[in-house]
Amino acid sequence: MAAYLNRTISMMSGDGPHNRPPVTAVLRTNGIDNSPLQIFVKAKKKINDIFGEIEDYVNDTVEYMREIGKEDHIVSPMKVKQIEEFVDKVRSIREVLARDHMKVAFFGRTSNGKSSVINAMLRDKILPSGIGHTTNCFLQVEGSSSEDPYLTLEGSTDHCAVESVGQLAHALCKEKLSESQLVRVFWPKNRCLLLRDDVVFVDSPGVDVTPNLDEWIDKHCLDADVFVLVANAESTLMVTEKNFFHKVSKKLSKPNIFILNNRWDASATEPEFLDQHCNEQEEVRRQHQERAVDFLVKELGVCTAKEAEERIFFISAKEVLQARMAERGQTSSTPLTDGFQTRYFEFQNFERKFEECISKSAVKTKFEQHSQRGKYIANELRDILEGIYNEALKLKEQKIKQEGELTDKINFTEQQLMMITHEMKKKIRTMVEDVEQRVSKALTEEIRRLSSLVDEFSLPFHPEPLVLNVYKKELHLHVETGLGSNLRARLSTALAMNMEQSQAEMTNKMETLIPESYRNASTFVLPRRQPFEILYRLNCDNLCADFHEDLEFRFSYGITALIQRFAGKGGSFLALKNNRERPHNSIMPSTPTDVVDGRLMYPNATFDDWSLLSRVALMGLTSQGTMGCLLVSGFMFKTIGWRVVVITGALYSCLYLYERLTWTNKAKERAFKRQYVDHATRKLKMIVDLTSANCSHQVQQELSGTFARLCSLVDRATRDMDDQLRVLEKEVATLDSAGGKAKVLRNKANYLAHELDLFVDAYLKLHN
Ligand code: GTP
Ligand code: MG
Repeated sequence: MAAYLNRTISMMSGDGPHNRPPVTAVLRTNGIDNSPLQIFVKAKKKINDIFGEIEDYVNDTVEYMREIGKEDHIVSPMKVKQIEEFVDKVRSIREVLARDHMKVAFFGRTSNGKSSVINAMLRDKILPSGIGHTTNCFLQVEGSSSEDPYLTLEGSTDHCAVESVGQLAHALCKEKLSESQLVRVFWPKNRCLLLRDDVVFVDSPGVDVTPNLDEWIDKHCLDADVFVLVANAESTLMVTEKNFFHKVSKKLSKPNIFILNNRWDASATEPEFLDQHCNEQEEVRRQHQERAVDFLVKELGVCTAKEAEERIFFISAKEVLQARMAERGQTSSTPLTDGFQTRYFEFQNFERKFEECISKSAVKTKFEQHSQRGKYIANELRDILEGIYNEALKLKEQKIKQEGELTDKINFTEQQLMMITHEMKKKIRTMVEDVEQRVSKALTEEIRRLSSLVDEFSLPFHPEPLVLNVYKKELHLHVETGLGSNLRARLSTALAMNMEQSQAEMTNKMETLIPESYRNASTFVLPRRQPFEILYRLNCDNLCADFHEDLEFRFSYGITALIQRFAGKGGSFLALKNNRERPHNSIMPSTPTDVVDGRLMYPNATFDDWSLLSRVALMGLTSQGTMGCLLVSGFMFKTIGWRVVVITGALYSCLYLYERLTWTNKAKERAFKRQYVDHATRKLKMIVDLTSANCSHQVQQELSGTFARLCSLVDRATRDMDDQLRVLEKEVATLDSAGGKAKVLRNKANYLAHELDLFVDAYLKLHN
């Protein structure tokens, strides 16, 4: 068994017959990297990827929140701010994650070989080592992607030549650094696999050279994943060493502590051991082992006895470093001390156990917290987005309901408007017809009463043509004003009431179609109803422009007048009859062609035979009046006697004289007014229909105007409702997309939480 072990070791160490490199190196260089450190490396990559997604996700969510925060009232600015805070949180976690590494800190008494162990693990003489007190400050070796190694001093980012580490960190150096000060050594990752896998080594001065152990612990130990106590196998565990780890285990719960009994090669060269051979050596080893186990299990209580067995190793750092440097051709000699292979194997065993331990511990201590915080963020965001989604859904439903109500309202208003328009048209028509009738009736009555209106005209009359012209003009005006005011007196109140009622009815009906909110708005003003007055437009000036008065004196008992009076009964009847049958325009006087007994005769006048005979007789009597008079008087002289004739003649003359004398201006005025009344009556009768139509038209215009104004108000309200509908539609679309996005983001939060659960299952639960 021992031979097999030795052979294996020699093969692994590369000093066998074929000079092969160690297995770990072979596996790693072939790309089959089965180092336990890969757990940490993969876990770090995975959680980094997840946090990368979380960061994108949080940024997307913030952008989304800001967007919806602007338009809708789904999210309060407080919520937006709350989400924005997650951006910083995730960023700082990512920063910590990027810096996360596995940290191992080496402690022990001076010259126990702490620096030598680190150098052996790193396969290079990186840190200064030597007899006596060598390391005088904390030295942290970490991987760097740069090709050349360099170092930085605490509080500075300046790169210093790595060769100076021997000077700076050496206790014999003139330039003294404080013992708790940290010098960081950046070593190219490609030169060392442990550094590539994010392991950071911390070397320290001997615990026996300082009284400031607490400061050391606070400054350098709290984030360490593994502690290595480098003890001296030539002696035993000292109180100073134990004391330090007591302090550490007080500050950290169950720290991972390895105990390396270094300088185990000394046991092989010890002359006493050589004589009695292995028995004594085994005894010493058992003694060290027992004490170390007791220290870890009983004194510190950081692990079980079984676990402790796997944390205690007997090695020779010096030999391993020497062998490894020889492997790389840096030194020529490999150690040939007896038992070297076993010690080398134990060192490798330690490395393996150390890698497993640090990897598991670091994954747990570093990533468990991150994954929990990531899950917290994802869950928080999911809850917020769930709330937003529900709120958007609720708001959307409300808006859709409003949309439906508004559409119904618009449809109802349009239908009602059509109905009311129809009704109002009918009403206006009735009203217009009524007004037409009323005006026609009133005007007819007023025409009948025209003579009294004319009689009321009191301007002094004079037949002088010039004066008469002025008189006529004034009379036209009087008649026109009188008629107008009489008509107004008759119609105005009733008409105004009717109009008022109709307009009020219209307004009330249309008002019901305008939404209350719109009616209450300050911009809403109903059309003001102006007092309505009908204009009758009776232009007597024009109407009676063709009036010609006849103010010639006529003896009422003259023969012509008597005959005319005698014939007048039948004649007047005929004349009336003929006048009525005459075409309308014939009423308008044309040029007179003849004068009969002082009256104007017209060419289109027609008479029947009887009238023609009497006319001829009259013509006979009048045209040759003198001759007639002579004949009649001669005839009367003969038959009645001259006395009677004379008396009759005298009476007749007196009568003539009387009439002639009473043909004064007053009489002329009466005749004038009578003639004027006749003429105006005839003319006004002609325009009754026209005037009433004109008045009804005015009423129609007024009512239609009011209705049109009300319609335009309803139209405006409907248009406003249409606009509101468009706005609601847009809001519904926005809410729809906001809700949809919230749903997508909520699902993404679920996905991220699930990813973190998978991470926990894969890296945190499995390796517990
Ligand atoms: P300080 O830095 O002073 O605290 O010492 P240290 O613990 O770092 O010890 P260091 O690595 O400097 O080694 C001290 C001396 O011990 C050096 O001369 C080493 O060569 C020697 N040494 C280290 N390890 C071994 C070992 O395993 N066997 C033998 N024989 N000598 C060793
Ligand atoms: Mg040292």
